[in-house]
Amino acid sequence: MLGIYGLGRMGFNMAQRLLDKKEKVVVFNRSKEKVDQLAKKGAVPSYSHEEFIKKLGRDKIIWLMVPHQTVDSVIKDFKPYLTKGDIIVDGGNSNFNSTIKRAKALEKEGLTLIDVGVSGGIVAAKEGYCMMSGGDEKAYKKLVPYIKKMCQKDGYGYFGKSGSGHFVKMVHNAIEYGMMEAIGEGMELLDKGPYKNLDLHQITKVWNNGSIVRSFLMEMTESGLEKHKGLKIPGYIADSGEGRWAVETAMQYNVPFTVNTQALFSRYRSRLKDSTSNKVVALMRDEFGGHGLGKK
Ligand SMILES: NC(=O)c1ccc[n+]([C@@H]2O[C@H](COP(=O)([O-])OP(=O)(O)OC[C@H]3O[C@@H](n4cnc5c(N)ncnc54)[C@H](OP(=O)(O)O)[C@@H]3O)[C@@H](O)[C@H]2O)c1
Repeated sequence: MLGIYGLGRMGFNMAQRLLDKKEKVVVFNRSKEKVDQLAKKGAVPSYSHEEFIKKLGRDKIIWLMVPHQTVDSVIKDFKPYLTKGDIIVDGGNSNFNSTIKRAKALEKEGLTLIDVGVSGGIVAAKEGYCMMSGGDEKAYKKLVPYIKKMCQKDGYGYFGKSGSGHFVKMVHNAIEYGMMEAIGEGMELLDKGPYKNLDLHQITKVWNNGSIVRSFLMEMTESGLEKHKGLKIPGYIADSGEGRWAVETAMQYNVPFTVNTQALFSRYRSRLKDSTSNKVVALMRDEFGGHGLGKK
């Protein structure tokens, strides 16, 4: 049977989707409230590593949906209860290089690690996910009945040996950075250009109906602008790793990656309040040209 460990924004909804499709699923989480909530919806609850593994029965699939920084410690916590032949799925956004190393180490102990990059965000709970998998093919095939239920029709695939699923997901996320940055910059020009007070929400709504740039991300822009009644939100953009790993990999393989790299650096820039680089450029202009400092 399949069990999901990590019932955050992703894991909770994935378990919910399996339940909606009449699939049995065992659930476990660091904090117990999410387990209680899913138990009320029909999931098999568990409150310890041992109980979780016991309730999975003979053919165990342990699907982890946790931040990549915690995967090693989470696997370590399960280790005492695992037996040869068990399948661990890392459904989070882990670095494919770490995945390759982990899979090799686990293989020595008779355990199989399958990497599944999951896309779709929180809205996929209703519409279905997209999943990109890598690792031992025989083990992957055991996952397919569950993956089918969680994903959109044709929204899943197997890409080869260990790490390939996380690699494909990493590139997917890098593209996401670039596309989001392009939309962000377009909105900036609309906002600051010659026509004052353009209604950005109305523009995204119009664009989402028939235009070439209509898309899921444009729909998210439209719904976000509606929800927040504009852009009265902080402009700080976080990142969780995939963008920078993609840039590092592109450099390693001499692949031009200009748009997505620029999008990553734009996120870094968004976090600087009064940046050293801006100050130094301003300082030089003043030194060589006497242009003055600060806004005129
Ligand atoms: N959010 C997205 O749109 C999205 C999309 C695709 C993939 N992902 C990936 O999916 C994974 C989960 O993301 P999420 O958005 O669901 O994260 P989340 O909402 O922050 O939930 C994280 C989950 O991991 C558990 N957890 C955190 N630290 C832990 C630790 N040290 N030991 C044990 N459990 C721990 C949390 O338990 P508690 O409930 O006890 O805190 C929670 O269940 C990540 O790898 C993320 O990159 C996210």
